[in-house]
Amino acid sequence: MPESLDGWKRTHHCNALREADVGKEVTLMGWVGKRRDHGGVIFVDLRDREGITQVVFRPDIEAVMHEKAEGIRNEYVLAVQGKVEHRPEGMTNDNLDTGAVDVECHSVRILNEAETPPFMIEDDQELGEEIRLRYRYLDLRRPEMQKAIKLRHSASQEVRKHLSQNGFMEIETPFLMKSTPEGARDYLVPSRVHPGQFYALPQSPQTYKQLLMIAGFEKYFQIVRCFRDEDLRGDRQPEFTQIDIEMSFVEEEDVMSMAEGLTRHVFKSILDYDIPNPIPRMTYQDAMDRFGVDRPDTRFEMEIVDLEKIAQASEFKVFKSVIADGGQVRGINAKGCGSFSRKQIDDLGTYVGQFGAKGLAWIKVTEQGLESSIVKFFPEQAQALIREEMSAEPGDLLLFAADQPLIVADVLGNLRLELARQLDLLDNTAYAFTWVTHFPLLEWDPDSKRFAACHHPFTSPLNEDLAQMESDPANVRARAYDLVLNGNEIAGGSIRISQTELQESMFRLLDIGKDEAEAKFGFLLDALSYGAPPHGGIAFGYDRVIALMAGKPFIRDVIPFPKTNTASSLMDNAPSDVSSAQLRELGLSLI
Ligand code: AMO
Ligand code: AMP
Repeated sequence: MPESLDGWKRTHHCNALREADVGKEVTLMGWVGKRRDHGGVIFVDLRDREGITQVVFRPDIEAVMHEKAEGIRNEYVLAVQGKVEHRPEGMTNDNLDTGAVDVECHSVRILNEAETPPFMIEDDQELGEEIRLRYRYLDLRRPEMQKAIKLRHSASQEVRKHLSQNGFMEIETPFLMKSTPEGARDYLVPSRVHPGQFYALPQSPQTYKQLLMIAGFEKYFQIVRCFRDEDLRGDRQPEFTQIDIEMSFVEEEDVMSMAEGLTRHVFKSILDYDIPNPIPRMTYQDAMDRFGVDRPDTRFEMEIVDLEKIAQASEFKVFKSVIADGGQVRGINAKGCGSFSRKQIDDLGTYVGQFGAKGLAWIKVTEQGLESSIVKFFPEQAQALIREEMSAEPGDLLLFAADQPLIVADVLGNLRLELARQLDLLDNTAYAFTWVTHFPLLEWDPDSKRFAACHHPFTSPLNEDLAQMESDPANVRARAYDLVLNGNEIAGGSIRISQTELQESMFRLLDIGKDEAEAKFGFLLDALSYGAPPHGGIAFGYDRVIALMAGKPFIRDVIPFPKTNTASSLMDNAPSDVSSAQLRELGLSLI
């Protein structure tokens, strides 16, 4: 029968005791991490959220206590009273903060028993995702998970402190709302009171935060859950958290420097890490040209080089015909990869095939010169130019893609990352930040044959591009910016449209008719007409920031109760069927 606390109070947590505490009478409480029986002397690693302390039960304690100790199993919940003592010579454990001492127990209460857990509650285990998520409460007991969740808590505190000190107000916005367009599908919630009608869960509080600016709050923030029904992967969850921010009377510089200040504060206070000041910036076009993606990983170089002129001057038909068709020829210098085998190079070719590459031409740079089956198509002078443009040195491997611009970018952007993985260039303890600015306002959606907003439809076009809104919409740039860290988009925002007419013409470009605009966003258009201040903001993908700070590859490792890649919860089996009575009440029937 489990015992009760019966007045016992814990005096120390399990990471508190040191040599200076030797001789003290203490009361500890926690879970049994490991139990070892050395011929009557029983050792228990007692674990709580702060750490581990070794507890010793010697044969000379009261018989009933020793008997209890013999019955203890992994993950039992204990309260122990005892005396802090030095560990004997040679028995100290340098891996534990409490490793110089143990507690000689004279009284123990078994507060609860435990089934044998499906896995050991320890770090550094090869645990399947499925078992971790099914028994998430046990997975969360593991020290590394406790540490990640604690880091998340501390970071939230710092976010709140920093933003509050800088004049931001934390304001809550509804979860039951009308759909906001952030580009994903909505999660819908049926209304019982209005049968046949639905709320949407917010993809972000975008419209509300703009309304708060119109309402005069000037500086808003919220650490807020967002819901998006989209294809999931390691850095995407159906519900995730944003640090959502909006400011009035501001331009890009103001929002960006505020966001930098916040990021700098959090990294300094939590990790004691100094982010370079200022964070470097590049335009979207630059990012695409140099890195092939709009969220470049700038921890390593291997930038993309434009070789159009050289290819033009060559005799290589593959390249020349691509250029004649309006395509590009670009390459990267895989530094030091000149020793790659034929098979390794072929594997790279196969790898880029998934991004649409029709081939992967290559040249090895040796002391004797350039070596490859295609070198013969490049006259001496072109070869010299290739070496110069690509900073080629003996031992390098030059790789080339020829195709339409978006494919070349995708192929070389991904090839660059793959090479970095193979060459072990991705240092998990390094933090390379960069801003990406001047995104296109619109992107063409070939499926629906219309433009969609690149960021969202409330993002303002760049003033200097306003004149070409109607004539050349594809080339209008937006007042939008993303913050990128190690190749991850960790925040995105924009200066908003604050005038009704401009907002209406944006809707027109998006092929959202007057009636549709009125039905979907009438409230926002109305609000804009009552004196909207110039305003803008940003939202951080908080889970991504925390995962990067914690050195975790997936955001689910910093979310207490995440969903799987099929948006289900293995622990409580959500989503699940509902009763026909519930459906009836909502006026729904299933097809
Ligand atoms: P955006 O859609 O770019 O902008 O989202 C902001 C940031 O949220 C993170 N993010 C996600 N994280 C985890 N799982 C997801 N499914 C997911 N989707 C997005 C990303 C992204 O940078 N309202 C605008 C912000 C603004 O304009 O102020 C918005 O939501 O890190
Ligand atoms: P081929 O002349 O087709 O044998 O191609 C010679 C080399 O060019 C091979 O290494 C191919 O992989 C490569 N190649 C073919 N098409 C492309 C392309 N579109 N982009 C880059 N390399 C290519």
